[in-house]
Amino acid sequence: VQIVTVSGSLGPASANQAALHLALDHLRTTQPTVVVSPADVSAIPSFRPDQVDVPPEPVATLRAAVGAADGLLLAAPEYAGGVSGVTKNVLDWMVGSASLYRKPIAVLSAGTTGGKYAIEQLVRTLSWHGALVVATLSIEAPATKMSAGRYTDSATIAAVAEWTDELIRAVSSTWETTLAQVTAVVVEYGIDPRRFGEG
Ligand SMILES: Cc1cc2nc3c(=O)[nH]c(=O)nc-3n(C[C@H](O)[C@H](O)[C@H](O)COP(=O)(O)O)c2cc1C
Repeated sequence: VQIVTVSGSLGPASANQAALHLALDHLRTTQPTVVVSPADVSAIPSFRPDQVDVPPEPVATLRAAVGAADGLLLAAPEYAGGVSGVTKNVLDWMVGSASLYRKPIAVLSAGTTGGKYAIEQLVRTLSWHGALVVATLSIEAPATKMSAGRYTDSATIAAVAEWTDELIRAVSSTWETTLAQVTAVVVEYGIDPRRFGEG
């Protein structure tokens, strides 16, 4: 099983990146056969529709990594009531390649108020890509749950582990099970799960 992690924050002390580190630690100890590859999105240029078919090299590399992955763990901050531009820019580049189509994805947002608008936007945008959002997690006031750049709050550590396990469950399940996970997420946002088709 190959999992790609994507952080929508490029900050050096990112709470979202720290959540992905936690997920990675959890996978290393509980699922040693799972291969986890962090995606480097720092070199992804601003989206250009005229370059969709012949994208810049960092975009081509990212599309290939995402396309080859069995699932994605995506953590992104909320800025001014929406998902970070870094994240949306990356996702816009993925439209032309269909790299996210039917890809199981777990999304989280760590931010002051828990990033619920970022999560809502991610669920909608990813669903429009045809991706399968199988789990969401909101981490409120992350700074109060961290020490020296790592999460120390036991409830948050447990929640990230459960969030990670949901993705592993999805990538190892039947279509029906995965669709049930997706349905449990998307219906809350007014998205009809029938858009994802049948197995
Ligand atoms: C420009 C800017 C806008 C922000 N807007 C929001 C917001 O709308 N909602 C929220 O919960 N937090 C907001 N925050 C706080 C971020 O969620 C918080 O800084 C978070 O830790 C950023 O993620 P990171 O640590 O992974 O970089 C904002 C922060 C910045 C810098």
